[in-house]
Amino acid sequence: MTTTTARDTIMARRSVRAYEAKKLDKASIQRLLNYAVRAPTAMHQEPCVFVVIQNQSLLEEILNLAKPMFEKSLHAPGHTRVHTSHDFSDPNFSIFYGADTLIVILAKLTGSFVEADCWLAAENLMITATEMGLGSCVIGSALMALNTPEIKAKLTIPTDYSAVAPIIIGFPDGVTAATSRNEPMVLSWIV
Ligand SMILES: Cc1cc2nc3c(=O)[nH]c(=O)nc-3n(C[C@H](O)[C@H](O)[C@H](O)COP(=O)(O)O)c2cc1C
Repeated sequence: MTTTTARDTIMARRSVRAYEAKKLDKASIQRLLNYAVRAPTAMHQEPCVFVVIQNQSLLEEILNLAKPMFEKSLHAPGHTRVHTSHDFSDPNFSIFYGADTLIVILAKLTGSFVEADCWLAAENLMITATEMGLGSCVIGSALMALNTPEIKAKLTIPTDYSAVAPIIIGFPDGVTAATSRNEPMVLSWIV
């Protein structure tokens, strides 16, 4: 019997950008959320809430708004040049890569650590997805669209909540190669 350790799962996680057209069941999503909320939160405030979107026409609506918004932001004056291999003006490019489920982690941004809390929950969720044989990818390019009043209204998100971490989840179509990492750069190690 082989045992998978947390370290194995961390190393196996990939940003998956190709998905099978297969619906993710409710129990699996509930499991992901149960592990997401096990992440630490500052002062044990537990500020994170979730929106799960499995409605394909709504996903398309978000996509159609997000693509031009994100593309425009890339060309905004003062924006640091970022490399993206995706053509956001291509009508065939989906920022959701065909995934059937988008999970958005949100919070009321009331304290300095709230966004950190959401991202820690996001990593727990993605590691759990990996362990379950599911693929995931953070979709930062959807964030601006998710925080527009029109999409918030459609998703019944109260105005005082903000989307922080949008993550697609689904069944991977094929194998995703690992990306490289720099060696950890230790600025100082004082003993
Ligand atoms: C905050 C954040 C935003 C991201 N936004 C996107 C995105 O919009 N689209 C995308 O394809 N990948 C996105 N990614 C995934 C990164 O591109 C990916 O993590 C990186 O290339 C390393 O690959 P790996 O996750 O497979 O190791 C995002 C990751 C983070 C942490």
